[in-house]
Amino acid sequence: MKHLLSIDDVSKDEALAILNLATEMREVNTREVRKLPALNGKVVANLFFEDSTRTRISFEIAAKRLSADVVNFTAKGSSVSKGESLKDTVLTLEAMGVDAFVVRHHHSGAPQKIAASNWSKATIINGGDGTHEHPTQALLDALTMRVRLKGASDSGDLAGVRVLIVGDILHSRVARSNALLLRKLGAIVAFAGPSTLLPRTATTLVDEVYFNLDEALENSFDVVMMLRVQSERMNSSFVPNSVEYTALFGLTDERFENLGGKALIMHPGPMNRGLEIASKVADSDSSAISEQVSNGVAVRMAVLYRLLAQESK
Ligand code: CP
Repeated sequence: MKHLLSIDDVSKDEALAILNLATEMREVNTREVRKLPALNGKVVANLFFEDSTRTRISFEIAAKRLSADVVNFTAKGSSVSKGESLKDTVLTLEAMGVDAFVVRHHHSGAPQKIAASNWSKATIINGGDGTHEHPTQALLDALTMRVRLKGASDSGDLAGVRVLIVGDILHSRVARSNALLLRKLGAIVAFAGPSTLLPRTATTLVDEVYFNLDEALENSFDVVMMLRVQSERMNSSFVPNSVEYTALFGLTDERFENLGGKALIMHPGPMNRGLEIASKVADSDSSAISEQVSNGVAVRMAVLYRLLAQESK
């Protein structure tokens, strides 16, 4: 694999190989010296046209743990504000000798556009493009489920695991990448959300679709993944107001108590505490939200290793 643009391009075997390597990287990350020489001399550029905390910083830590040199480009404060195009930005960094670009962009398809162009010979990794995909988020979510549900030493898939993804599915690249990957790994995936925030393609993406969260939660899910309400990508007509959204689709204290501790609670972040998830739920023992972030470093180490250290093998 030269690029990581979409979960569609990742076979089940490749996904399992990344998860297995990420499990080894989790062990590396517990050592006193958390460093491998694998990417010595390589340059990884984080090319971020949209804000990020988790993805950008974990890619930076991951690349540094593999001994790569890392440069961070954010559109704010760059020559993009003077009108420089995506093409000229890539050409400029390419001329400085970049081996891999991690690209986050508000336009769906921007990483694919760079990979298909002749602007750069570098490896392109999708760090989240518009409402389309976020493949490394799906991989870190799958790793988190594997560790929490089946034990850290298990190198198998997620066959039969029931996962409910709740909320603003329409604008969520995380939901799309998760649905594609989890089903590839044998999980049964459901969406729940208001009809205005479910894509028309929902029934082709997942096994079950619910327009009522309470009805969905009666169906024994192993994982409940709450999504951020992406106010910046919607106008007010999608949901009446935040109070009604929480009442109908929030993981409130009451809904959480009814689950009886039987479901693993996940959220890709950043969270709107008190809107899609109650603060106490996010901080509970059932929550894997911090582990998702930690596993993000291990998964991104595994992805960088497979794409850059094994490129000539
Ligand atoms: N989950 C996620 O992509 O978070 P960031 O936007 O902080 O990178």
